[in-house]
Amino acid sequence: MEKIVRPESMQRITTLDLANKFIDEQVKEIREQVGDKKVLLALSGGVDSSVVAALLIKAIGKQLVCVHVNHGLMRKGESEQVIEVFGKELDANLVYVDATDRFLDLLKGVSAPEEKRKIIGGEFIKVFDEEASKLSGISFLAQGTIYPDILESDGVKAHHNVGGLPEDMQFELVEPVKLLYKDEVRVVGDALGLPHNMVYRQPFPGPGLGVRCLGAITRDRLHALREADAILREEFDKNGLAGKVWQYFIAVPDMKSVGVKDGKRYEGWPAIIRAVNTTDAMTATIEEIPYSLLHHITNRITTEVEGINRVLFDLTPKPVGTIEWE
Ligand code: XMP
Repeated sequence: MEKIVRPESMQRITTLDLANKFIDEQVKEIREQVGDKKVLLALSGGVDSSVVAALLIKAIGKQLVCVHVNHGLMRKGESEQVIEVFGKELDANLVYVDATDRFLDLLKGVSAPEEKRKIIGGEFIKVFDEEASKLSGISFLAQGTIYPDILESDGVKAHHNVGGLPEDMQFELVEPVKLLYKDEVRVVGDALGLPHNMVYRQPFPGPGLGVRCLGAITRDRLHALREADAILREEFDKNGLAGKVWQYFIAVPDMKSVGVKDGKRYEGWPAIIRAVNTTDAMTATIEEIPYSLLHHITNRITTEVEGINRVLFDLTPKPVGTIEWE
């Protein structure tokens, strides 16, 4: 990645006014760079790629082609939101690829975490590459690179860039938010009118629920994980924790325990709640969730989610536990 340095004089974007000024400048620059050519963007639905998409739609409209690859490991509702916001509301040129079966078939029986990551990352590139080769006349590739990505590009997080694209792709890059920090990207996203839950979305690993459905992924356990995770997010939203806790999710291990439901033996998986606070993800502390809320979430998950018969709360800070379980 090209080494660029944010000018000392560049003002931090903290208000909608400053964001609108940035947007106007970028729209002009993007139009100058792109002319009447076409631009391709891998749109994951994460904060950075969503803001880049919205900026480019504002600047060049249908000259932008967004490709959203659903690897089947998204959180509940996330691919649907990409289609709703970009495909419908913003009327973008959106190619939606449901590659769920491809990913889950490849992952069948694979339990080693790094092997799972490699498969997901490799297949993502393949699917994106296939879609790109079906399109004609693309001259540019847009990316949601942000300033910390540049600062860390030779550091520890390199392996995290699962959305990384093939190096032999011969496109000129369009990276309109490459000098911004995450908080600035969010203000720009707000100014562009993107939904709040998209702009303030938690960090989500590239391999998605793949590293939270522990061990070898099965469709039924992945489904249970997605539903339990949706309940956790809904309850955190309702109880004012969504904006307060840095990252929270459910992990479901590949093991069953004995339980009892409706008077009958009920073997099920445990759902593990992880809720952490951090500034840089290198260390993390545990959020103190009120017991009453934990009881309520436990009750909802065990009654509403097929296959789950226990709920556990992970009290381990990082170190010694990493944030993710795999
Ligand atoms: P760990 O588990 O290493 O996580 O404490 C630190 C942060 O990184 C995220 N994470 C990933 N992000 N691809 C990503 O894009 C990955 O493979 C990956 N693994 C962990 C994790 O969610 C946390 O925010």
